[in-house]
Amino acid sequence: MIVAVAHNKGGVGKTTTVVQLAGELKPEIIIDLDAHQGIAIINGRRPAELRWDVRANLDKAALIKLLKAVGEHLVLIDCGGFDSELVRIAIAAADLIIAPSNDDITEQIGLVRFNRVLSEISQATGEPIQAHVLMTRTNPSRKNFAAISNELTRLPHLTMMTSKLSRRADWANQMESGLGVTERAATRSSAAGMEAKALAEEVRSKLAMLTKQY
Ligand SMILES: Nc1ncnc2c1ncn2[C@@H]1O[C@H](COP(=O)(O)OP(=O)(O)OP(=O)(O)O)[C@@H](O)[C@H]1O
Ligand SMILES: [Mg+2]
Repeated sequence: MIVAVAHNKGGVGKTTTVVQLAGELKPEIIIDLDAHQGIAIINGRRPAELRWDVRANLDKAALIKLLKAVGEHLVLIDCGGFDSELVRIAIAAADLIIAPSNDDITEQIGLVRFNRVLSEISQATGEPIQAHVLMTRTNPSRKNFAAISNELTRLPHLTMMTSKLSRRADWANQMESGLGVTERAATRSSAAGMEAKALAEEVRSKLAMLTKQY
C-alpha cells in the first residue's frame, strides 16, 4: 500500500505528517521526493536501531520500479512542496493521498490549485483521484471546521479528514531527534500524541476499506 503525503504548496506540514505517521505505522520504506531531503536528514537523527529505510534522490525509472514492487508492504511518500513529473507519478500510484493544509485564505487558494493538479492527473490516468485534506497548524482549541469542509465540497478531488495535527510545539521538538511524538513516552499520551494516534487510526481504517474493495 502506498500512502503519499502531498501538496504543491510549501510549508503546510507534509514532512511533519510523514514523521508522525511513520512513528505509528512503521512503513517498510519512506520515499523522500523533496529536493531538500528533509526526511533523509531527520532519519539520520534517529537512534541507529530505529532508522527507517529512506529512499531519496530517485530518478523516474527508479521511482516507478520501487512503486511497482510495493505489494502489501506499506510505503510512505513525502512528496515535497512543488509540482513535478515525479510527484505526479507518486500521486497517481498512491492508494491514499493526504494533503496537509489549514483554512487560511492563502491555503484555501493553495487547495484550489492542488485540486486542479489532481484533476489533471485524473485525466491523464483515467482514474478519479481523491486526496484527503488534513488540517494542520490550526488552533488546538478549534473544533469547528464546517466552513472549510463546506468549501471542499466544491473541489471534487478533495475531501476532509476527521483527524488533525494542531499547532503545537511537540511535533518539531521531537523531530529534532528524528522521532514522532508517539515514539516517546513523555509525548505519547500528550495532546499531540492523541492527535497523532487518531491520525494513524484514520489512515489505517481508510487503508482497510480500500483492501476490502479489491
Ligand atoms: N501542526 C503543526 N504545529 C506547529 N508547527 C507545525 C505544524 N506542522 C508543521 N509545522 C511547522 O511548520 C513548518 C513547515 O512544516 P513542514 O516542514 O512539515 O512542512 P512541509 O509541507 O513538509 O514543507 P515543504 O513543502 O517545505 O517540504 C515547520 O517549521 C514545522 O515545524
Ligand atoms: Mg517537507
